[in-house]
Amino acid sequence: MDKYIINGGNRLYGHISIQSAKNSVLPILAATVLTDEKVVIADVPRITDVRNMLKILQCLGCRAYYSGNDVIVESADAGNYEIPGALAHELRSSVFLLGSVISRFHKAKIAYPGGCDIGLRPIDLHLKGLKRLGVKIDERNGFITCESDKLCGNEIMLDCPSVGATENIMLAGVMAEGTTVIKNAAREPEIEDLQNFLNSIGADVCGAGSGTIVIEGKTRLSGGRYRPIPDRIEAGTYLICAAMCGGKVTLDGASGEMLSSLIHKLYENGCKLDVKDDKITIESDGRLHAVKSVETQPYPGFPTDLQAQMTALCTISSGNSIVTENLFETRFKFVPELKKMGADIVVADRCAFVSGVNKLRGATVVAQDLRGGAALVLAALAATGRSEVLNISHIDRGYSEMEYKLRAIGGDIVRITV
Ligand code: UD1
Repeated sequence: MDKYIINGGNRLYGHISIQSAKNSVLPILAATVLTDEKVVIADVPRITDVRNMLKILQCLGCRAYYSGNDVIVESADAGNYEIPGALAHELRSSVFLLGSVISRFHKAKIAYPGGCDIGLRPIDLHLKGLKRLGVKIDERNGFITCESDKLCGNEIMLDCPSVGATENIMLAGVMAEGTTVIKNAAREPEIEDLQNFLNSIGADVCGAGSGTIVIEGKTRLSGGRYRPIPDRIEAGTYLICAAMCGGKVTLDGASGEMLSSLIHKLYENGCKLDVKDDKITIESDGRLHAVKSVETQPYPGFPTDLQAQMTALCTISSGNSIVTENLFETRFKFVPELKKMGADIVVADRCAFVSGVNKLRGATVVAQDLRGGAALVLAALAATGRSEVLNISHIDRGYSEMEYKLRAIGGDIVRITV
C-alpha cells in the first residue's frame, strides 16, 4: 500500500495541466459498448477508476487499451453481458454499463456496484428509469439481471437530479425505439459532455445542461474520436491547494465557467483569481478569511466532490465556517484525520462546524476515500512539519500523477511504495 510523505510549508508557484474529467471519461467509456466501431478517447488520465473500467470492457469482450495518452475501444467482438462481482465492486460507475449493455445485448447482469464509501448510494432511480424503457429487472443474490427484447422510448421523471441515473438512462435511450424524455435531469457539465460524445457517434440527444433531455432513438451508432472536458474537480482541488499554501499557480486547460461556485468562495477567502476560458490563475498569501457557509448542491451549486478539500481550507481560515453536506451521508470521514493535525472541527449530522486555527501541524493520517484523501494531502502541504498520508490507493482512483504535479509547483511530496 503506497503512502505519501509530505513536508509542509512550501509556497507553490508554477503551472499544472488539468486531466480529462474522470466523471466524463467513465460514462463515455461505458457508452463505447453501444457501437461496434472503433472509438478513440483523447487524453485519458491514468487513474485506477479508468483502469478498472477498461478491465470491465475487456471482460465484456471488447478490446480496450491505452495508446499513448488515448484510450481505444473496439467492441466489435463483445459478446458477454455479465459483469462479475470482483470488478463491479471496484468501480461504482460499472452501474452505468447497465444502460449500454442492455441496449447492445438485450441482457445485462451486474453485481451491485462499489466505489467510494460515502453513504448509501442507492441505484433505485437508475432501475426505475430503465423499467420505464421496457427493461425487466430482477434483483437477487447481490446481482441485478436485466432483460429486454426491445427498448422503447418513454418519459422519465427523476425524483432527484441524479448524475448516474441521468447518464444511465441516456445510454439506454439513445438506441431505444422512439423518443425518451428525462425530466429533472442532472445538469452537471459531464452530462453535456456525454451528450456531445453520443452525438459525435451519431446519436440524437439534446437538452443536456438543462433539466430536460430529449433523445430520439437510433438503430445504429458509429465510431469516432472524442476529447472529454477538463476535470473541474481536479482543477478545484489544486485551486484550493494553492489558496491554502500561498503562492501563484496557473491551471492550464481548466474551465472557470464550470467552477464558478468554488471561485466565488475563493474570492470570499481573500484570494485573487484570473479566470480565462482555458486557464485559471490563483494568487494567495496563505492568510485566508473564513467563508461562513459552504453548502453542497447539485450543479451549478458547490460540488460535493470539493467539500472535503474546502473543509480543509476552512480549518486554516480566520473565523468560523459551517460546511453542510447535502448529497451524501458519510462524507465527513476525513474529519478525525484533520483533527490529528490540529484542526478544530465539530460534526453534527450533515454539518461540520469549523473554527479556523493559525496553522495545522504534520501528522500521520489515513485516507478513507478519494476526495477526503485529497483533502488530507492539501492539509499536509499547508501544515508545518512532516506528514504521512496512508492508503493513497483511494487518491489514485481519481488523480493522475498527483505527486508529480504538486512537486512541479514546489510541493515537497514523495510516494513511498510499501
Ligand atoms: C456522481 C459522481 C460523483 C459525485 C456525484 C454528485 C461519477 C462517476 N460520480 O455520482 O463523483 O459525487 O455524482 O455530484 O460521475 N440517489 C438516489 N437514488 C439513485 C441515485 C442517486 O437516491 O438511484 C441520490 C444519492 O443518494 C445522492 C444523490 O442522489 O444523495 C446524488 O447522487 P448521484 O448524482 O446519483 O451521484 P453519482 O452518480 O453516484
